[in-house]
Formats: sequence, structure tokens, C-alpha cells
Amino acid sequence: MNIILDTIIFLGKFLYYALESLIVSLIPKSKKDVAGEIVLITGAGSGLGRLLAMHFASLGATVILWDINQEANMETCRLAKKKGGVKVFAYKCDCSSRQEVYKVADQVREDVGDVTILINNAGIVVGKLFLDTPDHMMERSLSVNAISHFWTYKAFLPAMVKANHGHLVCISSAAGLFGIRGLSDYCASKFAAFGFAESLFYELGKIKGNKIKTTIICPFFFNTGMFEGCTTKHPFLLPIMEQEHVAQKILNAILEEKVYLMLPRFIYFAMILKQILSPKVMNVLDEYLGANETMTSFKGRVKADETQSETERKH
Ligand SMILES: NC(=O)c1ccc[n+]([C@@H]2O[C@H](COP(=O)([O-])OP(=O)(O)OC[C@H]3O[C@@H](n4cnc5c(N)ncnc54)[C@H](O)[C@@H]3O)[C@@H](O)[C@H]2O)c1
Repeated sequence: MNIILDTIIFLGKFLYYALESLIVSLIPKSKKDVAGEIVLITGAGSGLGRLLAMHFASLGATVILWDINQEANMETCRLAKKKGGVKVFAYKCDCSSRQEVYKVADQVREDVGDVTILINNAGIVVGKLFLDTPDHMMERSLSVNAISHFWTYKAFLPAMVKANHGHLVCISSAAGLFGIRGLSDYCASKFAAFGFAESLFYELGKIKGNKIKTTIICPFFFNTGMFEGCTTKHPFLLPIMEQEHVAQKILNAILEEKVYLMLPRFIYFAMILKQILSPKVMNVLDEYLGANETMTSFKGRVKADETQSETERKH
């Protein structure tokens, strides 16, 4: 196509959608009804996954809980039922295992039906400096936090495409937008999860009449225990958020079919600064915020194998 005509069409569409998003951001958004939807949440045995399960159960959705920890998952099942969930199903599944994801997905289809809202939430963190992180734990971070998303999408997206109905939710992190000291493997996995989910947004967008939605969530730290011990220098700008607050915001973003959600709002501003400021200026901002010192007091949940780290580092 002629470059002038192409540019005019681009500018027209650009202005139209920029204006549309401005207007949409000013008016209260309608929320979709999820009663009757089949919502699958990975990593439902704890923290955010558990809270989302309880919310979706109370909204009348059929809720499918996946976790590697059977006991914790059963407790979520009990709590979701207590919140009014009539159809709540719990399955033990290690999402990092492709074979297990496909096997349990087959079981879900047989027992419940086709998943219509998939929330990839399962996650782990090691929280060590790069050279102190055992090789197998770096691989595990990538498998659980990112590669597992390939398998769950492969398992459930075809039915969504066939029905032209569904919603894919990726729980990434602010660590999927910024590198953070002491989180090299975690950041790599969360950047990967973000990139994968965003690519799917564009792939699905190219399907004519597509109605499958995608949402990517990038929160800063919140108090589930995953980042136990972490503190921030200026909680006013970068607070360790309350998990209930985060779960509610994520639920709203899903119900409003938002494409991106970053929490707290300061993350949007920091993203813009990262694009326009020099690394030296960003360093000054980092020193002020102490973002790269956040992991210094990290205790967390996962205890990495120190012995293996030493051995592996020698090879
Ligand atoms: N807590 C935070 O500060 C924070 C910040 C940003 C993003 N996130 C992300 O939010 C998500 C939920 O975090 P959370 O704080 O609720 O963590 P959490 O530790 O409370 O819950 C994670 C759940 O994932 C499960 N899990 C771990 N490995 C699994 C596997 N292989 N297969 C299936 N289940 C597995 C765990 O058993 C656990 O129940 C994670 O993806 C995390 O990376 C958390």
C-alpha cells in the first residue's frame, strides 16, 4: 500500500483508539457476569490463588483448583464452598510437568467441562543472588512461573478458540517489568510469562471476530508470605500491599476485561520513567526508593539447597 495512504489510515486509527481509551478510562466500567463460567486457578492452595478462588466461588462460577500441595488445595476447596461455591473441584497438579498438566486437564474436561477462564497463578521464588542460586532452582523457577503457562494454554485454549469464548489471565509481576537484585531467575521467569501472554494477546487479536480476552497482572510485593521478610524504604510510594486488596483489584481487572493491570499505580509511572530516563538517573531513583534493596531482608518460603549450589558452582 502507498506509504502516504498507509500513514493516514494509521494516524486516523491511532487518534480514534487513543480518544476511545481516554473516554473509557473516565467512565465507570461494566463488569462481566461470571456465574456459570468454568474458572481454573493454578496455585490455588495459598495466597492470591486461594483468595481469587473464594471470590469466583461467591460470584457463582464453577471453580477448579490446581495445586501441587494437595492438603492446602483441599483447604481452599473448603473455604470456597463456604463462600457459597456450589461447584468447586480440587486437583493435585504440578504445573511444571507437561505430562501432568495434560493428564489432569483431560480429567477436568471429563469431570467438569471446558475451562472458560484460565488463571495462571502458581509461582515460586528462590530469592538468592544469581551466583548463589542452585542450577536446578533456576530451572524450577522458569518451569513453574513461565513454561507451565505453555502447557495450560495448550490444554485449554483450543476449546476457547472453538467456542470463541474465554479469558486467559497471566499473573506476572512488577518483577516482569523491572530487573531486581536478588531475583534474577524470578525476574527472567516473570518477563517470560509477560512476553508469552502479551504475544497471545496479539495472536488472538488477529483472529477475525475474536472474543477471547487476555489480562496480564503485574503487582509489586504483597503479604501472602511468598516474599516474607521483604521491606520497602518508602511505603507511601511502594508499599508491601495487603493480599485482600490485591485480590480485589485483580478480580475487578478480570471482570472489566482489562488487558493490563499494574499495582500499585506508581508502577505505571516507573515504567514510563524507565523508557525515557538514562540508567544513571534510574539508579538515583532506585537509591531513593530502595527497590533493589527490597530482597536484602527476604526470608520467603522456598529454602534453596545451599550444598548443591556450592557443588554446582564448581562445575
Ligand atoms: N506475593 C507477592 O508479593 C507477589 C508479587 C508479584 C507477583 N506474585 C505472583 O503471584 C502469584 C501468587 O503468589 P502468592 O503470593 O499467592 O504465592 P503463594 O506462595 O502464597 O502461592 C503460590 C501457590 O503456588 C503453588 N505452587 C507452587 N509450585 C507449583 C507447581 N509446580 N504446580 C502447582 N502449584 C504450585 C504453591 O503450592 C502455592 O499454593 C505467583 O505467581 C507470584 O509469583 C506474587
